[in-house]
Amino acid sequence: MEKTTDYFLRYKNYNFDIHTTPEIIDSLQSFEIRDSDIFLVTYLKSGTIWTQNIIISILEQDGGLPAHPTNMRQMPWLEYKPKRDISQRPSPRLLMSHLTPRLMPPGLKNKKAKIVYVMRNPKDNIVSYYHFCCAVAHWETPKSFEDFLEQYLAGNVVGSSWFEHIREWHDERDQYNILFLTYEDMVLDPKAAVTKICSFLGRKLSEAGIDHIVEKTAFKNMKNDPKANYQFLPKDFLKGQFMRKGKIGDWKNTFTVAQSERCDQIFQEQLGDLALKFIWDTELPPQP
Ligand code: PPS
Repeated sequence: MEKTTDYFLRYKNYNFDIHTTPEIIDSLQSFEIRDSDIFLVTYLKSGTIWTQNIIISILEQDGGLPAHPTNMRQMPWLEYKPKRDISQRPSPRLLMSHLTPRLMPPGLKNKKAKIVYVMRNPKDNIVSYYHFCCAVAHWETPKSFEDFLEQYLAGNVVGSSWFEHIREWHDERDQYNILFLTYEDMVLDPKAAVTKICSFLGRKLSEAGIDHIVEKTAFKNMKNDPKANYQFLPKDFLKGQFMRKGKIGDWKNTFTVAQSERCDQIFQEQLGDLALKFIWDTELPPQP
């Protein structure tokens, strides 16, 4: 194991937050997968806690989900120290992860357990991540946005490289039972997103039920929902908020033109062949 900074540990060629151990990561290789398991997988700051809230709300409405005081308890992290043994939970087990396929339990390749994978355009992802880095108390506060951008582009952050995360999950998608979503599509048409997740999970909800979940998980409502907004985290862990702006295109308020072009170039070089279509902003072009 190579510990590279005070706030992340590098193990198996991946940067983890210090709230895990090599033993926990190694144990995932023998973590037994149940067909009923539901995983939410993302790179950090891609809409994880939002999608978590949607998945939990769908299962709650469909019945049979044990109550928990917070979404984090109801759908814990796979790779971080759980309070209790997550493997012994009743089915369906709900788990979140930021890991790449090679670090996930191999049993997931049986294609029966379900994975919801959410990605977000990298420029908004970077800005969201920058603010988060400034808010997590035990992480090093970036010297500047420019400095953070360089670290992010080099994969020198918790979660390692965004580009590799997207690449690896896309390259291995055929081995998994996986639903790909983008944050931007979710923002632009939340009802379609909730409906898609619902049907992927094999749950049948009424239209009113879907509408209720869309409303409950909308940014303005979720921000005030103590079960879902992560304000329950202790202040000595998080100085800011998970739920910051929740917008598409906020990167334009931070990036310089040169930084944006550099990102475009790296995106093209590293992922150009994947034909990913991200929505970068929601502003309409000026009318003639
Ligand atoms: S983490 O730390 O990886 O779990 O963070 P993650 O949840 O992936 O990402 C946080 C960003 O998601 C935004 N968010 C939402 N957007 C729209 N609607 C809802 N309901 C919602 N909930 C969370 C959150 O505001 C963060 O994005 P930014 O751009 O920083 O606001």
